[in-house]
Amino acid sequence: MFGPQTHCVVVVGAQWGDEGKGKVVDALAERADLVVRYQGGANAGHTVDTAGGEFVLHQIPAGILHPGTRCVIGNGVVLDPETLFHEIDALTGRGVRVEGRLVVSDRAHLVLPYHKLLDTESARSRQIGTTSRGIGPAYEDKIGRRGVRVGDLRHDEIVAKLVRAGCERANAMLALSGSAKRCIAADIERGLAQIAPRILPLVGDAGKLVASVLAGGGNVLLEGAQGALLDVDHGTYPFVTSSSTTAGGAATGSGIGPTAIDAVLGVVKAYTTRVGNGPLPTEASPAEAERLRSLGGEFGATTGRPRRCGWFDAVVVRYAARVNGLSGLAVTKLDVLDSLETIPVCTHYRLDGERLDDLPDNVVSLECVQPVYELLPGWRRSTGEARRLEELPDEARRYLERLQESAGVPIRFVGVGTRREQLIAVV
Ligand code: IMP
Repeated sequence: MFGPQTHCVVVVGAQWGDEGKGKVVDALAERADLVVRYQGGANAGHTVDTAGGEFVLHQIPAGILHPGTRCVIGNGVVLDPETLFHEIDALTGRGVRVEGRLVVSDRAHLVLPYHKLLDTESARSRQIGTTSRGIGPAYEDKIGRRGVRVGDLRHDEIVAKLVRAGCERANAMLALSGSAKRCIAADIERGLAQIAPRILPLVGDAGKLVASVLAGGGNVLLEGAQGALLDVDHGTYPFVTSSSTTAGGAATGSGIGPTAIDAVLGVVKAYTTRVGNGPLPTEASPAEAERLRSLGGEFGATTGRPRRCGWFDAVVVRYAARVNGLSGLAVTKLDVLDSLETIPVCTHYRLDGERLDDLPDNVVSLECVQPVYELLPGWRRSTGEARRLEELPDEARRYLERLQESAGVPIRFVGVGTRREQLIAVV
């Protein structure tokens, strides 16, 4: 993706998350000077399979696995300091140097124990099917202008004031919801005082760093988490996460202007999955979904929950292409379909007898649409060893061509397995 005219690339999920962004970012990071996470938090789980084994990263950008690449946790992220240090320690324990390579934005907000408690105890979170990582409550505090930012850790008295007010508010909400659980401000303040000396040396003006790398002609990769259909504005609201997962969020969440972005790569699976509740028009029958789930190992990297599985939905991907301004697609997990005789692809919907080529703007209608499928022949051969497009079976190439045509975006990469070398660059 990087080239003389392309120095700043965004990688986004173009379905409901779990598209395999970690693998794609890992491949592109080889040529990146800086990799930036710009939204979400420990709800994400980016899995990368390397010769040194499998790594699951929740908050640290997947670029950390390339020794020459520096990483940034941007201002748009809600950072769980506990998980961050577990991740840093686990990486260090496996020989990945993090020190001196990770910068945390002083503007990123902290996920505190009361955010996680509110998320786990809330009936609304259960209805949405959240990851219980405190993401929604932390973004609520950010938008409510009462959040604690990483940079605040430099000032004990500011932290104490914010944490006490936050705890009081959280305890009142817990009481209202009928929960017997409570948080204790003094414990949280003590915890933050302990982590501050460890986190503050990592803290910096992340936006300035990104801008200076770009100004010097370096390559920057902006790594999205979740997917377009989970975007708080453009997703299947209210069954969404609480951040801007789409490419626009990459600018605000990393501290650069949108004109700095040169290309946007959308990652999609060769089929569709979703975790949590909300509409999934192409959800397969229970038996077919079970087959896809076991073939694709479709269990959440963060929560272990079984993912709901279905067929490729071109309506969803066309929509994701529009709201992200996608310049290319990376299609992952093609190999999962290797054994299927025929493969349905949803090209459009029907609603109340009418043809729909575009995603409806509300979940009530989306729950009622009927997907219209085209049945494509399977290839019934292993694709895992293919390293060039020409090495794929004809039917697999035809399948990819149909995805590209129906989504209206050129395919730039195809994933045929979990290993690093199992990613075909389409030239
Ligand atoms: P939250 O982000 O934990 O608030 O969860 C809100 C919705 O987003 C739920 O449906 C989650 O399952 C979904 N979600 C959050 N993070 C991810 C992810 O990384 N992959 C897939 N789904 C996610």
